[in-house]
Amino acid sequence: MSAETKNFIAGKWVATGSTFDSVNPATGELVSRCAEASQQELDAAVAAACDAFPAWRKTPPPRRAEILFRVAELLKARKDDLARWITLEMGKVTMEARGDVQEAIDMARYMAGEGRRMFGHTAPSELPDKFCMSLRDPIGVVAVITPWNFPIAVPSWKILPAFVLGNTVVWKPSSDTPVCAAKFVEAFVEAGLPPGVLNLVLGKGAEIGDALVRHRDVRLVTFTGSNEVGHRVSVTAAETGKRCALEMGGKNAIIVLDDADLALAVDGIVWSAFGTSGQRCTAASRIIVHNTVRGPLTELLLERIKQLKIGNGLDPPTTVGPVINHAALEKFDRYVHIGLNEGARLLIGGERFSKGDCRRGCFYRPTVFDNVTPAMRIARDEIFGPVVCIIEAGSLEEAVAINNDVPYGLVSSIYTQNINRAFAAMRELTTGIVYVNAGTIGSEVQLPFGGTRGTGNGAREAGQAALDTFSEWKTVYVDYSGRLQRAQIDTETTTQKEPQNENSRTQISSVRPGPGKTAARIRG
Ligand code: UN1
Repeated sequence: MSAETKNFIAGKWVATGSTFDSVNPATGELVSRCAEASQQELDAAVAAACDAFPAWRKTPPPRRAEILFRVAELLKARKDDLARWITLEMGKVTMEARGDVQEAIDMARYMAGEGRRMFGHTAPSELPDKFCMSLRDPIGVVAVITPWNFPIAVPSWKILPAFVLGNTVVWKPSSDTPVCAAKFVEAFVEAGLPPGVLNLVLGKGAEIGDALVRHRDVRLVTFTGSNEVGHRVSVTAAETGKRCALEMGGKNAIIVLDDADLALAVDGIVWSAFGTSGQRCTAASRIIVHNTVRGPLTELLLERIKQLKIGNGLDPPTTVGPVINHAALEKFDRYVHIGLNEGARLLIGGERFSKGDCRRGCFYRPTVFDNVTPAMRIARDEIFGPVVCIIEAGSLEEAVAINNDVPYGLVSSIYTQNINRAFAAMRELTTGIVYVNAGTIGSEVQLPFGGTRGTGNGAREAGQAALDTFSEWKTVYVDYSGRLQRAQIDTETTTQKEPQNENSRTQISSVRPGPGKTAARIRG
């Protein structure tokens, strides 16, 4: 069977080499046979992005933005269809899949607005008759490497700002969600994006992804995925002289203090820990609870978990869909064993779910451990699934210390009704994102997204911060004095002196202001 889902290179869909399968994690059925990009195709994709760069760079940003506005409209018109492909390929429930598409629509509109903004700065000069400004320049060819858990939203965070700023892109999506990637590319093609500006290469990260990161004509690598792979990307990028922007997961906590609204906290915990089956970088995997409310909170939580409905994400009553693949199931089993061996107590879940139709897919029961201590591996490693640990703390200070003492730093959340404690926590929590009286998921596109420690390398996505990730600053000094002026050296004298060069075309001499007179007269 030949490939149905193809690579997109220099404005053409191409499939020449071997194929791989995209499989539905809820049913085990084939979603699509996909073309793997060869090394030659990868080279052609990067060459196409290089060739397209000069003209795209010179296209006025408002014109580039018009394409982004059209992409937003196309995604809106296709929201249901795209959401269905997301659920088919990676399993999340329809409501969340629609949210995934909506996040890309929001990002397209937000970044399209930058086409008429993209502000630089002007700053005063220390010398007379000199003008200073900073402008944004594109970087060049950007390698975009994205995960399967947000097959449309996360790529949109990277591709859309890259485009409005004038970069061209070679995109390597996860090999678990190639169809979603091809559907996203189709929207750009229909919106009128010139050939070569966006190129899609499909295949395995260890092969085609690595070759893309190494490629000498790529200037920036933007990656979202595991810490382990992200670390390799950053080493390769450093070796080959590229910039890189990394987002590498989390071990996010929800702190519940003794004055918290417990019912509200449980809403936030269930949504953040088991939404998307716990497969978000932002998912809550630790509950740090004040010891006086641990009992009632746990009781409410277990009650709510029993009401969750595991199943195919396309079935309306489902609240928890499948996990991505069999390797993920094995990983969760492994961590459940690790937790039990470490002395944690399993309160619910801890096993695969295979009732009825679910036996054909990859389902895991929502899992909660308590008696967890901060040093345990289940409290430190990113498990990336529906597994959550309850850790006790005796005070806000202790809770914050536990929160901060993990290898990751993406999101933290605190439930309290005391405003002083809320503000103290906002100051002390050392994650890139902090929520007060809300769970750990639900970032919005107009604000920076990213984290500290093992989560990132300082770069941010979304919001105005994304503009820094996807552009170079160019500082421009315009000296219109007509003579040599030396910064730092002439600054002591220039304020008192008249211009020296009488032959220069434009000079300003001071006149005493009088009625109807301006303070300066320009001599041509
Ligand atoms: C991710 O898990 O990589 O805040 C992205 C959220 C979403 C984005 C998650 N807006 O959960």
